Amino acid sequence: MEHAVFVAGVALHGPAPDPPESVADRRDPRRPKSGEFAADMMTRDDCIACKALYEKYQLYVYQLIAAQLTRLYGRTGGRVADIGTGPGHLAVELARLTEGDVYALDINPAMLELADETVRGTGLEQRISFALGDVHDIPCASQSFDLLASYTCMHHWAEPAKALAECYRILRPGGLMAVIDVRPVSALTAAAFAEIIPEEEYFRIIDKAYKESLDEAVAADLFAQAGIVPESVASLELTDEDIMDYLESGEPLDILEAAVAIDEPTLWMITARKPLQ
Ligand SMILES: C[S@@+](CC[C@H](N)C(=O)[O-])C[C@H]1O[C@@H](n2cnc3c(N)ncnc32)[C@H](O)[C@@H]1O
Repeated sequence: MEHAVFVAGVALHGPAPDPPESVADRRDPRRPKSGEFAADMMTRDDCIACKALYEKYQLYVYQLIAAQLTRLYGRTGGRVADIGTGPGHLAVELARLTEGDVYALDINPAMLELADETVRGTGLEQRISFALGDVHDIPCASQSFDLLASYTCMHHWAEPAKALAECYRILRPGGLMAVIDVRPVSALTAAAFAEIIPEEEYFRIIDKAYKESLDEAVAADLFAQAGIVPESVASLELTDEDIMDYLESGEPLDILEAAVAIDEPTLWMITARKPLQ
């Protein structure tokens, strides 16, 4: 059985609503262009607040997402990339579930400092490396990674098709790329979030992400523009197995329980495997 669960303020499941007519409809012309991102970058204080809120309310998300990604990946070796790592929690969970090195990229130096703090003391320090850089021009050789993940980052990208092409460039033949992001939600779901999200600041972060989000049809179109053929385009679902594993970990679950009632998909995942040459 599959559940709607709360992930980064996200309830997951159900059919996707109709896509908007064109990509252009959903692109904000005021967005910074590639290379001008700094103007839109979060301040250090915002990054610190963001990390604290993620740790208070959504650490389970990273465990569940990493479990799902590694299942899809189907192996434990190889090099892993986390693009737009933010405070680094997904990078840590991916390192826990795999055996290879994890490369975590972010454009914001303050985020990388915080990510470094996240990793310190986990015992994974030797396996996780951080890099300052822009997804539109990733400072890595082509065909360097076997698994590439990017979680709730794509809606920030100024030129998503170019950025996706960069992600695909650094993937090895046979490698798996999984991009996950928030999708637009109805006024009803937004109101439900306001009810269950305990802190105004956390709600503000989540609400902003939804307002800037793209739906999966638009995102799939951007994959096509990048010349990438997806393996799957779907709303992200978590299974009984995911939830049970999480419950067994004994973490607090209030927010997850509260969100099960929300009945609208709010995250999508698009995967692509690079063909073997
Ligand atoms: C909403 S946060 C998500 C962070 C992390 N993936 C998580 O879920 O905890 C988005 C992150 O993407 C980063 N980012 C935005 N644009 C980027 C770009 N062009 N290149 C690399 N990172 C970028 C931001 O600095 C921020 O850390």
